[in-house]
Amino acid sequence: MNSVTVRVPAKVNLQLAVGPLRDDGYHDLVNVFHAVSIFDEVTATAETGMSVRVEGESADQVPEDGDNLAIRAAIALAGHAGRPYGVNLLIRKSIPVAGGMAGGSADAAAALVACNELWGLGLPREDLMEIAADIGSDVPFALLGGTAIGTGRGERLTSLDVAGTFHWVFALADGGLSTAAVYAECDRLRQASGELVAWPQAAGALLAALREGDAEALGAQLGNDLQPAAVALRGSLAHTLDAGRKQGALGSLVSGSGPTCAFLARSAAHAGELAAGLKDAGVARDVITAHGPVPGPAVV
Ligand code: C5P
Repeated sequence: MNSVTVRVPAKVNLQLAVGPLRDDGYHDLVNVFHAVSIFDEVTATAETGMSVRVEGESADQVPEDGDNLAIRAAIALAGHAGRPYGVNLLIRKSIPVAGGMAGGSADAAAALVACNELWGLGLPREDLMEIAADIGSDVPFALLGGTAIGTGRGERLTSLDVAGTFHWVFALADGGLSTAAVYAECDRLRQASGELVAWPQAAGALLAALREGDAEALGAQLGNDLQPAAVALRGSLAHTLDAGRKQGALGSLVSGSGPTCAFLARSAAHAGELAAGLKDAGVARDVITAHGPVPGPAVV
């Protein structure tokens, strides 16, 4: 086998509860991840040395050196195997870059699955999960897919039961937001307000809405503690969120650390209408529809 291609989905956070800042610079989270049908593709081709090339949506904003999360994942996997493997990774992007939809984490997860196959390592998912957690807090979920609750940094995962399919609209923004900068702004806002930061808790009503496939109830429960920080750094997001609410979204929130905004619709048809309305309102660079949950990375 000379080449393996893996398709991997984006995520949106349905609940992102951010606890106090830890000594290691991270925050303890309750993070409800939901994989949605926006996909990157990563093709791993056997080669001597490690290299990466990026094509597609905002490809020029993705590093093609050792900072690229996918090549870091491939290097970590070769290190774990203890062999001088090489690979060329070709990443075809559709997931917004630095958009709060874990695109970089998705590419890293896809690289782990593709190289595991290409190099014939046959490592079980649990081993890949451990390597994934070292690459980034969102990479383990990107390996898992579906809908799951993450605790710790977000890397300790439990899959959740979800009935049916939810329909989403995503408003993409111009340019990304740095995850670290958004967490830092969250800390700054909390310090300035003197807010006592509670230990993060899963919202029982949100988990029940997922179990029952109740979009109306889910819409009312969506929540993201990073949203005030993302809006503080990118004021235009307030208008985007407002436009979605006015047009009848069941719920709206900033996805992860933003700047992508997510809107929950009643049905696929409603998602189409909502997307058209948001496009007309001119509050986003682009507007796309997707559904979730979808399975994690798969060889195609
Ligand atoms: O784990 P990852 O490298 O993706 O995290 C990027 C940044 O996001 C971290 O450097 C940290 O600033 C912030 N972060 C955090 N708490 C988490 C996850 C991420 O503060 N649980």
